[in-house]
Amino acid sequence: MKNILVTGGAGFIGSNYINFILNERENYNIINIDKLTYAGNLENLSPSENNPNYTFIKGDITNTELINYIFEKYKIKYVINFAAESHVDRSILGSEVFFRSNVIGTNVLLEASRRYEIEKFIQISTDEVYGSLGPSGYFEETTPLAPNSPYSASKAAADLMALAFHHTYGVPVTITRCSNNYGPYQFPEKLIPLMIINALNDKKLPVYGDGLNVRDWIYVLDHNKAIQLVLENGRDGEVYNTGANTEMPNIQIVKLILNYLGKSEELIQYVKDRPGHDRRYAIDSSKIKNELGWTSAYTFEDAIIQTIEWYLANRNWWENIISGEYQNYYSKQYQL
Ligand code: NAD
Ligand code: DAU
Repeated sequence: MKNILVTGGAGFIGSNYINFILNERENYNIINIDKLTYAGNLENLSPSENNPNYTFIKGDITNTELINYIFEKYKIKYVINFAAESHVDRSILGSEVFFRSNVIGTNVLLEASRRYEIEKFIQISTDEVYGSLGPSGYFEETTPLAPNSPYSASKAAADLMALAFHHTYGVPVTITRCSNNYGPYQFPEKLIPLMIINALNDKKLPVYGDGLNVRDWIYVLDHNKAIQLVLENGRDGEVYNTGANTEMPNIQIVKLILNYLGKSEELIQYVKDRPGHDRRYAIDSSKIKNELGWTSAYTFEDAIIQTIEWYLANRNWWENIISGEYQNYYSKQYQL
C-alpha cells in the first residue's frame, strides 16, 4: 500500500482528488488531515467516507507534534499539500492566517518529510505566484515569481521553502502551479459558484472593475489527473505548470451562467475593483504535456454546464453553506 498524507482534503480540490484517486487506485491508503476551516466540508467526501483505504484526521498542519505523530503512526511516504487559505479577497481583509497556514504549515510538513525520509512531496501551488500578465504572453516555469496579493505572496514563500528543502536536504519535492479551477464542491466565494448561486437566488452578481480581467480556467478533474501524473512520474526539484488553455474575461463567464439559467443580465452589478487585482493569467503547460503526457480531457463548454448542473442538483450542499458564517463574509465583501 502507498500511504499518502493529503492535507486540506476537505476543501474543493483536495476532496475532488481523494474521491477521484480512491476510485482509480486500490493500493492507495489516504490519510486526510484538515483543519475544517470555513472552507473545509466533510460532506465533500461522502463518496469516500466508508472506503477502508481512507482515514480523516481533524487537525492543523502548523501543529508540529500532531504532524510528526501522523508521519510516524501511518508510515507516511507521500505528501500532497493542498491545505491553504485559498481566497485572494480574504487575504486582503487579513493576511495573518494566510502566512500561518500557507507558509508555516508548509514548513512544518517539509520538516517532517525530511525527518521521516519520505519518497515524494507534492506542493500544490498556483499560477498566481507569477503575478499579472499584459494582453499577451504566458506563464512558464521559468517566469520570475512576482506575487501581488497576500495570498499569492504566501504561496510563493511556500514554494521557495519547498525548493530550498529539496536543494539543501534532498527532500523529494515537486511543485504544481495550476490556473483557476472550477467544478463540484467549490466554495461559493469563488467567481463561478458565487455567480451560479446568486443567479439562482435572483441576487445581484458583483463583477469587479470592468469585468475584463482574464483567468485561464481548468476543470478540477483535469487538475487532479495532472497531480496524479506528477506524483507518479514528476521529477524531484521541478515545477510543472498546469492549465487548459481556456482564457476568458470574467464578464463572459458571468453572462454565460445567466444565459444558461435563463436569468436577466440586469442582475449584473459592476462593483469596486479588488485592490491590486491581477489583470490576466495564462498558463503554458508544454512541460507537463511533453514530459508527463498530460492533456486536458474536458472542454470548458461541456464542463461549465456539468458544473452548473451540479449546483442545481446539490442545493442542500450550498444552502447549508450560505446560511452559515458565509453570510458575514458576504455582506462585508459586497455592499449590494
Ligand atoms: P479550499 O479553500 O477549498 O480548501 C482548502 C482546505 O484546506 C480546506 O478544507 C481547509 O479547511 C484546509 N486548511 C486550511 N488551512 C489549514 C491548516 N492550517 N491545516 C489543515 N487544513 C487547512 O482551497 P482549494 O481551492 O481546494 O485549493 C487547494 C489548494 O490548491 C490550495 O493550496 C490553493 O492554493 C491551490 N490552488 C487552488 C486553485 C483554485 O482555483 N481553487 C488553483 C490553483 C491552486
Ligand atoms: O489562479 C489560481 C487561483 O485562482 C488560485 O490560486 C486561488 O486559490 C483561487 O481562489 C483563484 O483565484 P482568483 O482570485 O483568480 O479567483 P476568484 O474566483 O476569487 O476570482 C476570479 C476572477 O473573478 C477574478 O478576476 C476576480 C473576479 N471576481 C471574483 C469574485 C469572487 C469578480 O469579479 N467578482 C467576484 O465576486
